[in-house]
Amino acid sequence: MMTSNNSKFEQHGVSHSPVMVDEIVECFATVPSGLVVDATFGLGGHAVAILNAYPNLQVLGLDQDADAIANAEKMIAEDPTLQGRLSVRRIRFDALDEVLEEMSVNQISGALFDLGVSSPQLDIAERGFSYRQDGPLDMRMDQRSELSAANVVNEYEETELAQIISRNADERFARRIAKAIVGARPINTTTHLAEVIVAAIPAPARRTGGHPAKRTFQAIRIEVNKELEILERALQAAINATAPAGRVAVLTYHSGENRIVKRVFAESERDETVTKAASPFVHESQNSDRLTQRVRAAKYPSSKEQTINRRAKSARLRVLEKTLVGAGN
Ligand SMILES: C[S@@+](CC[C@H](N)C(=O)[O-])C[C@H]1O[C@@H](n2cnc3c(N)ncnc32)[C@H](O)[C@@H]1O
Repeated sequence: MMTSNNSKFEQHGVSHSPVMVDEIVECFATVPSGLVVDATFGLGGHAVAILNAYPNLQVLGLDQDADAIANAEKMIAEDPTLQGRLSVRRIRFDALDEVLEEMSVNQISGALFDLGVSSPQLDIAERGFSYRQDGPLDMRMDQRSELSAANVVNEYEETELAQIISRNADERFARRIAKAIVGARPINTTTHLAEVIVAAIPAPARRTGGHPAKRTFQAIRIEVNKELEILERALQAAINATAPAGRVAVLTYHSGENRIVKRVFAESERDETVTKAASPFVHESQNSDRLTQRVRAAKYPSSKEQTINRRAKSARLRVLEKTLVGAGN
């Protein structure tokens, strides 16, 4: 099996190291031959690592971002080893079941969700995701969407804004920030928004927990892209479509996502269906007590990876293995 922790992928000169790539590759070691859905293709780092490691697997990459899909099509055109093994679709991942139906695919070998934004989305100022660079208030992963950060920031009621900031990012100063935003309207740039947020947070609190605007930017981004609303449906579609012994792996980056994945996986496990949560790291084990315990413990990136890859810091990997009831597991 090829390990690929040092691989870097590029789009518009922005490079990206896929998070926990060796653990993700390892996770698909025992899945049945066939199609793995990479629901968040991005720069394709995980997808290519999976394809390189397992000649018996193909990957269908999904992404709602036009740039990600254009980049993927270029990758495929330039690399004959990907042709016939990697295909991509520009869709939001909660349309997974429709796409599979359209392609007449009844079962998949597994699915991967690497949630959140990609490095190009964050690093290209014009996309408006970053509080560190000046750009328009955009934050749309899907450039066709009508709702942008400018709408949320300039048009939402103060109470709704406060709820979003609190719920999507656990920001304890949500009400103060929402009030400051409403008072500063119109706000048209990321820099202006960041300044308003920073000024709304009491000075001592500004010095702890990273950039003071980080959580509010995350909360607005989640609202713009409806990230939490669509996650459950997409996970359930992936679990339903996954064949016995297949796996659904999810990388989360904040508590809101993590809570949903944990709950959906736990419900699947309790549900008298054919799913069973398992750790990818004990797949050789047949001891169900151990497996049951492992589902509660998410896996984290190594401290080395956390040091060299900023995005990896807050990552957690959760995996659900589908197994036949009565198959001895
Ligand atoms: C963290 S990046 C994925 C990086 C990828 N694993 C790699 O190795 O390059 C997340 C990607 O998923 C896409 N994405 C996020 N939510 C999505 C959704 N609901 N539907 C489709 N694509 C989504 C984003 O546009 C972004 O390109």
